[in-house]
Amino acid sequence: MKVGIDFGTSFSLPAALINGTPATLLPGGQYGVPSVFYFDRRRNILIGEAAQARGEKFPRNVVRNVKMEISNPNQKTFTLDGKTFDKKQIVGHILGEVKQVALIGIEHRQLVSQEIDGAIISVPAAFNLRELNLIREAAQDVAGLKVFGFIREPVAAAIAYFNAPAGEDDKTILVYDLGGGTCDVAIVRSDKNSDEWYKVIDSDMLRIGGRDWDKLLGELIKRKCREQVPDIEFDLKAQSKILDVAIGVKHTLSRLDKAFAELELDDEYFEVEVTRAEFERITRELLQETMRMVDKLKSRCRTKIDYVVCVGGSSNMPQVRAAFEKNYPDIEIRLFEPEKAIAFGAAIYSEHVTEENYLHDICKFSYGAKYIQNFNRYRDPDRLRIFNIIYKGDELPASGESTSYSVDDGADTHIEIYESECTKKIYLPEDGTHIGEIEIRGLKGSRKDDATILTVTIDRSGLMNLKAVDERTGKTARVEIKLKDF
Ligand SMILES: Nc1ncnc2c1ncn2[C@@H]1O[C@H](COP(=O)(O)OP(=O)(O)OP(=O)(O)O)[C@@H](O)[C@H]1O
Ligand SMILES: [Mg+2]
Repeated sequence: MKVGIDFGTSFSLPAALINGTPATLLPGGQYGVPSVFYFDRRRNILIGEAAQARGEKFPRNVVRNVKMEISNPNQKTFTLDGKTFDKKQIVGHILGEVKQVALIGIEHRQLVSQEIDGAIISVPAAFNLRELNLIREAAQDVAGLKVFGFIREPVAAAIAYFNAPAGEDDKTILVYDLGGGTCDVAIVRSDKNSDEWYKVIDSDMLRIGGRDWDKLLGELIKRKCREQVPDIEFDLKAQSKILDVAIGVKHTLSRLDKAFAELELDDEYFEVEVTRAEFERITRELLQETMRMVDKLKSRCRTKIDYVVCVGGSSNMPQVRAAFEKNYPDIEIRLFEPEKAIAFGAAIYSEHVTEENYLHDICKFSYGAKYIQNFNRYRDPDRLRIFNIIYKGDELPASGESTSYSVDDGADTHIEIYESECTKKIYLPEDGTHIGEIEIRGLKGSRKDDATILTVTIDRSGLMNLKAVDERTGKTARVEIKLKDF
């Protein structure tokens, strides 16, 4: 059985197509797997609800929102109760738990196929090559889960929407996905009768999500507690408690005009009132930032939008709909399966991933190689430049070639690879990110100054594939990329 996995900042969710209809694979009543990791020497590793419950008592032993830490250069590892874990291990354990939960879900539904062959994993619209690679390695090496590919979250949601009974064909939608850690947007067209069934016109992302709303609400609750007890101190445990209470208050404020935060801190009992108007005022700038991204995407694409489709748990907040109604009074807004749409879309795509005409998307980044410009004339390291091989905006799969020359008979070639949003042919190294090294193994019989043609391909998942051929002998060389850690 093929599954789709929505690997979320706060929750992860497995789904599959069952008799042609997408369904979550969860044991009865479960909402999703909290993406939470816990370790202590007595209990060992806990994941999901168990980790969350334990973490409330021992916040030092818990890692939350790990998806948002993947590319954080200031947080290379996590040390819990004296043991150090790297990001790949933690992501792998969470995906492993999602796989186990899916297997129980399959058993409960008494499906014929009891095995999981592999998964499509959804990722934010602009996760970069190193983030994708880490998730793939974590899934395959730690969770024992084959990755068929990735799909961008808002694109998965669009596919789920178009496949739902209410979804019409021959339409263009703008998907707005406000989750726990990111806000993702995409403009997607569905046209079964064209050569391209689903076409992503463009997409974008901000690293802003429900957890940022939680932080601001937590600060407001703290200020209100201080009004009652001016010299109150908030230690780590108190802060973690406040954050949990803030999340509850936030959810209540999606239904009601006011909510109460009840807290017991330092033997003091607090009950503070928060109104929806107050909450919306303190989080207004966050929402506006996401709306500015929507505006930019819309003006870049210049196509008629038939509907705005809102997904992601945070789209439950009434302020989201209100902002769309105010900014785009002529476009109908639909809230669609906020918690499940992405997993559903990934599940549907898992059945179609190999079909060339199913989904068309564009590259989010440019990839280039570092060489000295006019090497033969200058040989001057000050003239090191990045020469783009693949350009942001190229249709996926995107391919490009680069030629390098062997420095000696049979020598290996090392090429530094850069990722950027720069679409110029040549640019300065400081305008991109050095993400790793490509190593081309010297071929037997290859000579100094032989040209090697390197072909770089970014596949439909956003992952990089490489091929290198010695131009003179026509032989294929061994080539691999070593990506840098964050
Ligand atoms: N009724 C609600 N009102 C307000 N916020 C909500 C509600 N329900 C869920 N949320 C928030 O939605 C977020 C989780 O949404 P979702 O499951 O879509 O995110 P995720 O997939 O974990 O994160 P991401 O997609 O950013 O990686 C949390 O911040 C949660 O507090
Ligand atoms: Mg999500």
